[in-house]
Amino acid sequence: MAKILVCYYSRTGNTEKMAKAIGQAAGEVPGAEVDVLPVGKVGAGDLREYDAIAMGSPTYYGSMAAELKTLIDESVAIHGQLEGKVGGAFSSSANVGGGNETTVMDILKALLIHGMVIPGMARGDHYGPVAIGEPDDRATAQCNPIG
Ligand SMILES: Cc1cc2nc3c(=O)[nH]c(=O)nc-3n(C[C@H](O)[C@H](O)[C@H](O)COP(=O)(O)O)c2cc1C
Repeated sequence: MAKILVCYYSRTGNTEKMAKAIGQAAGEVPGAEVDVLPVGKVGAGDLREYDAIAMGSPTYYGSMAAELKTLIDESVAIHGQLEGKVGGAFSSSANVGGGNETTVMDILKALLIHGMVIPGMARGDHYGPVAIGEPDDRATAQCNPIG
């Protein structure tokens, strides 16, 4: 059994919709057990329980929101214990070219520093799913890369 966490911050619901779509897709993987949780319901120590962790944030000035960064900063307490786990990131921005990819990379940098393994995507959203506002059909499909 693989335990998967989809952890997100969302102020107006767009990133949350992406998180739910990713969680639903991950739940279709045989043997997967998936939790989809907002940052406030995840403690840094909880991250150790999972084999794979996807983190999502709205794009705020081209970066992740402070709420998600706080969780990541608190995870210094378990630094080294996420090594080898699979990671991913996703983001919703208001604008095309509004910084959603830089936000995804912002999150992925932190996961790489944790020693996590990040699969890229040869097609579609290469770094991780991105949406403009609420995820449309294209973005929702990117949230299910194996679908
Ligand atoms: C403080 C703040 C900063 C933002 N910065 C950007 C930005 O740099 N680029 C952009 O395209 N959208 C920006 N937005 C818009 C949000 O990224 C966008 O509305 C997103 O869909 C919100 O996601 P949510 O519904 O999950 O909260 C910003 C919004 C806020 C509140």
